[in-house]
Formats: sequence, C-alpha cells, structure tokens
Amino acid sequence: MASTCVVGLQWGDEAKGKIVDILTREHQWVVRYNGGANAGHTVVKNGKTYKLSLLPTGILEPHMTALIGNGVVVNPVKFLDEVANLRSAGVEVSPTNLLLSTHAHLIFPYHVEEERLTESGKGQAIGTTGRGIGPCYQDKISRSNGIRVGDLLHPDFLRQRLHAIVPRKNLILRALSSDAKTFDADALADEYLGYAQQMGPFIRDTVHALQQAVHDGKNILFEAAQGSLLDIDHGSYPYVTSSNSSTTGIWAGSGFPARFITRIIGIIKAYTTRVGHGPFPTELDDGPTGIGETIRKIGREYGTVTGRPRRCGWFDAVATRYTTALGGVDELAVMLLDVLSTLDEIKICTAYEVAGQRTTVFPGDAFLLERCKPVYETLPGWKTDITGVRNWNDLPAAERYVSRLGELLERPVSFVSVGPDRDQTIFCK
Ligand code: GDP
Ligand code: IMO
Ligand code: MG
Repeated sequence: MASTCVVGLQWGDEAKGKIVDILTREHQWVVRYNGGANAGHTVVKNGKTYKLSLLPTGILEPHMTALIGNGVVVNPVKFLDEVANLRSAGVEVSPTNLLLSTHAHLIFPYHVEEERLTESGKGQAIGTTGRGIGPCYQDKISRSNGIRVGDLLHPDFLRQRLHAIVPRKNLILRALSSDAKTFDADALADEYLGYAQQMGPFIRDTVHALQQAVHDGKNILFEAAQGSLLDIDHGSYPYVTSSNSSTTGIWAGSGFPARFITRIIGIIKAYTTRVGHGPFPTELDDGPTGIGETIRKIGREYGTVTGRPRRCGWFDAVATRYTTALGGVDELAVMLLDVLSTLDEIKICTAYEVAGQRTTVFPGDAFLLERCKPVYETLPGWKTDITGVRNWNDLPAAERYVSRLGELLERPVSFVSVGPDRDQTIFCK
C-alpha cells in the first residue's frame, strides 16, 4: 500500500488540484481532511476545465473513491450544488464513489452571518472567503454549539440541538450589530432535514471505511486544502484559516495514522501569491505596470472562490523551507513556471532582515513577519515560451531557476508545471 499527500507550501492556490489529478493514476482513494468550500481547485484536462471546492479533486476520475473526512466543515447547499454541477459536467458522483464523514461539522447560515459581521466590524479583518468556515470550527471546538453531519440522520435530535443553539447565536449576532440577520430554529431544522434526505446516502463512518481501504491494499491520496502558511497553528497567525492545512491535519482530520504516509509532495508556485490580509514579505506592490501586475495578468491570479485579485510576489525560500520541514516533505512540484517567462530577471528571497539582523528562521506570527524585510538573490530570466516543453533537458535557463529552488529547499523536484493542462507537465524522475 502507498499513501501520498499533496500539500501546499505557501498561502494556498499552489495548483495542488493539478498534481492531485495527475496522481490519481497511481491511487484508488482520495481524501480531503481539512477546510471546506473556502478551497478552490481548478483542473484542466483534455481542454475541459473543472472547478472543485468542497469535494476532493480526485473524484473527477471514475476509478477513484472520494472521501470527505471528519476534519472538513460542510455547507449542505455547497455540497449538493457541487454534486449536481459535477453530474451535469458528466462526472459520475454517487454514494459508492463519494463518502461524507458523520463527524464532519455542518455550516449553518448563522456562521456565514457571524463571519460577515466580524469581518466588516471594527478591529482586524482577516480577509476571509466569507464561507462561514471560522465560526463553524469555533462551534466545533466549543462543543455546546457544534452540529455534525451525522446529526442530520436523527431529526428529533437535530431539532432539539438547534433549539438550544439558535437563541444563543441570535444573541451573539445582535450584539455584533443591531441590523444582524437572526434565525429561527424550526425553519433551519426543516431546511436541513430537507438536505438530509439527499445527503443521507453519502453519510458514512469514514474512519472505518478508510481502515477497510487500507486493509484491502488501496493506495490513498490525501488532498490538502489551503496552504501550510495558512495553518491555524503553524501559519502567519491570525491571518490564517481555521484548520490544520499543513500535513499536521491528516491524522486528526481523517483518522488515518500519518505515520503510514509514504510520500509527501510539497507544491510550490514558482512565485508567491496570497488572497486576503496579512503580512507578505516578498509582495510586489509595484503598481499597474509593475511585475506584480504582470504576474497577476499572465498567471490569471484571481481567486477561484471569491474572484478577488491575488496579491503576487517573488518566491520566498525562507517561508517555504519552514513549511517543507514542518510538513515532512519528501519532494517538490514547481508550478506555474511559464508565468515568469517574460521577465528579464527573477528574484528569490533567501533571508529576512529584522531590526538590522539577518535571519533564515520563519516567524510563525504575523506581528513578527510584518517586520521582516526580504533579502534577495537575482537570477537571469529565460525569456522563452516554455509552455510546450515536456522534458527537463529541453528547459532553457528556467532549469537553473528550478534547480535553485530545489537546492534552497533541500528537496528533489519531481514535477515542473508549464501550463494549466494536465499534459503541460515535466516529470523529473
Ligand atoms: P489549488 O487551490 O492549489 O488547487 O490551485 P488553484 O486551482 O486555486 O490555482 C491554480 C491555477 O493555476 C488554476 O487556475 C490552474 O488551472 C492554473 N495552473 C496550474 N498549473 C499551471 C501552470 O503550470 N501554468 C499556468 N499558467 N497555470 C497553471
Ligand atoms: P485553496 O485550497 C488561498 C484564505 C482566505 C483568507 C484566509 C482565511 O484553493 O488553496 P477562511 O475563509 O478560510 O476563513 O479565510 O485564508 N484562504 C485561501 N487562500 N487558497 C485557499 O484554498 C484558501 N482558503 C482560504 O483568503 O486570507
Ligand atoms: Mg485554490
């Protein structure tokens, strides 16, 4: 049995979806263990584009069984929409190839409202996706306010829980704003029991199912959502998401013992992007004719979920050395290399300067990261279209850039991606 994890080493959108899609060739199961519909994974194959958000990207391949683990937070509307959209795109989705954990937590409209009010209120906005992710995880941890997917199967219990929780939620919402939306427990119970009818067949004891798959010798692929720098414990707190988006989330978020994972592939963009607020030392905030905007335009760096322009900057080897070590990464996939092809020269951040001192230690804390100034080394650009290259030996000077990234992160580069299509990939080993 082989088990692989595909994990982003930056602030998300590293093109994890593309590598997951490629790796379905060698796996039979695919597992999401964190996040929810805040993720947006785009896959292009045979000229067709697919966008996945809550469902594992691996579901696009008919031989795969997809599993949404207990660590995920699930909005039933998004779940059912995504199932319907995939079906209308010709992808088979049924309770035999999609399993949803009884222990995953449910997102309710009051979570979305609470997030809207905290994000628009006084104080620090995180720049979230507005999907109710943070408030739902908050309620999971609180225990008294959490409702799990499995509760959809027990109508009386669900209604009773909502009767206890919704009045408390309304109090909080009203305290946040006098014009907050408030909610009715019975109306929510009726609405969610309607979803339960459609979701019921997908709901399973996924820990047991995963153990059975392991027993049967299946190869399992773990698909991380977000990036390691957005990890709730290890990222640039508080400008992070509310789950363990690094590999640290696998064991808790799926029940699969992480010590059985045989291969961890760290996904890096050839540069850096970030959506939402928070420090970003290598950001290229250089105006409408600057390199930041050039990268955004060529890389089409706009969020899949919210459409927000992504902030763009140079590759940060300090941050990614940290997440490489944190995640137990074995090898790297360097993505979107083609986006840099027009640049005369390309910079890599190899150290930070803080209060006049040089450091290569990444501070997992926004306050400290805000004070870090990047120290760069500069490499020549290659100024050639590389989107048609399929062999490592045919890469022009770009090969030097990729090699340098591998050297700085002290890991071999196994994949280089030179375009969005599945075929636009160089396999280095
Ligand atoms: P994910 O969330 O990590 O799966 O990444 P996203 O799907 O949000 O963002 C990556 C975007 O880059 C998607 O639109 C992909 O289709 C696209 N993409 C993937 N690889 C490449 C590449 O090598 N070059 C270019 N130009 N685009 C790519
Ligand atoms: P994928 O899987 C990039 C960011 C948001 C915000 C912060 C918190 O496509 O890589 P949240 O809604 O999670 O509470 O927002 O995290 N964020 C992402 N950024 N890619 C993602 O997912 C993201 N999911 C959340 O922009 O800064
Ligand atoms: Mg994305």
